[in-house]
Amino acid sequence: MARGRLIAGNWKMNGLREDAVALAHAVAKGSGEGEVTLLVCPPFPLLTSVGEALAGSAVLLGAQDCHSAQSGAHTGDVSAWLLRDLGCSHVILGHSERRADHGESDAQVAAKAAAAHAAGLTAIICVGETEAERDAGRTETVIATQLAGSLPVGATAENTVIAYEPVWAIGTGRTPSPQEADAVHAAIRAELAGRLDRDALTILYGGSMKPGNATALLACENIDGGLIGGAALVAEDFLAIAAAA
Ligand code: PGA
Repeated sequence: MARGRLIAGNWKMNGLREDAVALAHAVAKGSGEGEVTLLVCPPFPLLTSVGEALAGSAVLLGAQDCHSAQSGAHTGDVSAWLLRDLGCSHVILGHSERRADHGESDAQVAAKAAAAHAAGLTAIICVGETEAERDAGRTETVIATQLAGSLPVGATAENTVIAYEPVWAIGTGRTPSPQEADAVHAAIRAELAGRLDRDALTILYGGSMKPGNATALLACENIDGGLIGGAALVAEDFLAIAAAA
């Protein structure tokens, strides 16, 4: 199976309802019927409003996290089944901000991804090295460990997307060169070859992807799309990145 092109917007903790609805309308309006799949991931409370704004377009809806349980006494958490019920197709898991801010471990990410799969969602599992790890030449080792621990049993190239997000590139305006990023993506593909269909696996690059650098990054053989933070908050920029894909 050929792998698809996916441009995903991670809106993080930004915007009020009015902003989110306007952004969703603008993305939907500019999206068209191209070969690139577009996905937007607003904060939890805005999923319904954004989903309504996207109705009739091909833009998909996703969330930024989920709990590993189906239901129960988990104050403040949201289940993958509820996300599915609200119209989500994808959920971002193990983002470095959640690993850092909430101490999420690889094992917790794997449990959340298993729940996402059971609920019928595609899990976008994030991995990436810190600057210190990169400087120490440990990028591939760190990522191999994250991949080994964060993918649940039952992960396939159909229900799982990997996002390579170097922590030092997120929100900083800095990126690896396209060649450096592509080499890490190739290593991820090779690392997972024994676990899933490497040729069908979608691997996104994330970390300061902007209209100005998207073409070069997305031209790389192993980069199948992007997980976009800051630039996803401006419809024009997000759509320009999609056009570059
Ligand atoms: P950025 O964020 O594009 O603002 O660097 C990417 C991400 O954290 O997913």
